[in-house]
Amino acid sequence: MSGENAPLSPGVPGPEAGQAAPAAGDSPRDPVLSTSGVTMIFGGLTALSDVSFAVERGSITALIGPNGAGKTTLFNCLTGIYRPSRGTMTFSPEPGRNIPLRRLAPDRITCLGIARTFQNIRLFNNLTVLENVLIACHSRMKAGLLGALLRDRRTREEERAMADFSYRLLERYGLGPAVNHLARNLPYGAQRRLEIVRALATRPALLLLDEPAAGLNISETRELDSLIRRVRDSEELSVLLIEHDMSLVMSVSDLVYVLDYGALIAAGEPGDIRRDPKVVKAYLGED
Ligand SMILES: Nc1ncnc2c1ncn2[C@@H]1O[C@H](COP(=O)(O)OP(=O)(O)OP(=O)(O)O)[C@@H](O)[C@H]1O
Ligand SMILES: [Mg+2]
Repeated sequence: MSGENAPLSPGVPGPEAGQAAPAAGDSPRDPVLSTSGVTMIFGGLTALSDVSFAVERGSITALIGPNGAGKTTLFNCLTGIYRPSRGTMTFSPEPGRNIPLRRLAPDRITCLGIARTFQNIRLFNNLTVLENVLIACHSRMKAGLLGALLRDRRTREEERAMADFSYRLLERYGLGPAVNHLARNLPYGAQRRLEIVRALATRPALLLLDEPAAGLNISETRELDSLIRRVRDSEELSVLLIEHDMSLVMSVSDLVYVLDYGALIAAGEPGDIRRDPKVVKAYLGED
């Protein structure tokens, strides 16, 4: 943090210079997500150490840090892939509804309203663009296995509604002309976009993006910048963004958290983070 006590977000006081990174007590007024003391130990390696942070509802919040800092591990804890060794994680899909995430399975967390993309694209390459989105929609289907097997009227209506919804979503985000293409035949930038649209098909309140700009060129990264803002506004969700592209982070984020060796070392608005000596030091040796 710079020594200016810059606010973390409106109405939230920043930590004093030299003080530890923000604790849960510094949470925004209306967090969609908050964690307290999240610690993840793999054998002898502490990948996350006492991580307490929050994402303000409606914000684009970034999580940055050098390679191996623990960013993806934190996403894996939030989405139920790993169960943290210690700590609490609370998701609030709506104000006043607080759900502890720690013991929930990944598909349950998706149903509750947290969706993610992966650092390495994970599409079903041999399925079409539309099919990739339809699969994600199934997490929201009410009909269940029996309905799917019997294909009763209610199930067929639900499937039709899902197909309509998926088409509209793909059209809204520029993939309408590609609905029947195999995912593997899409250009790389469009595959990244499809991953985001597929995540949106689960109708999340919180979207976790793990390095969405990886492998994109400058103009694709600029498009991604406006896509992230558009998604936040049109789908009325909050975004937690892991990203190494600092120009994207500085442009799109309301608030930035910095992880280094598993611990939060800074939190603040992009301009303050850019000047923070601890952050500059953590990135020394990186570009
Ligand atoms: N399942 C696992 N078992 C053992 N160690 C792991 C496991 N998952 C992650 N780690 C270790 O935890 C540390 C944090 O890894 P993580 O992938 O979260 O870093 P990251 O910040 O996402 O890095 P990058 O920017 O390179 O993606 C690394 O040292 C990694 O090797
Ligand atoms: Mg990672």
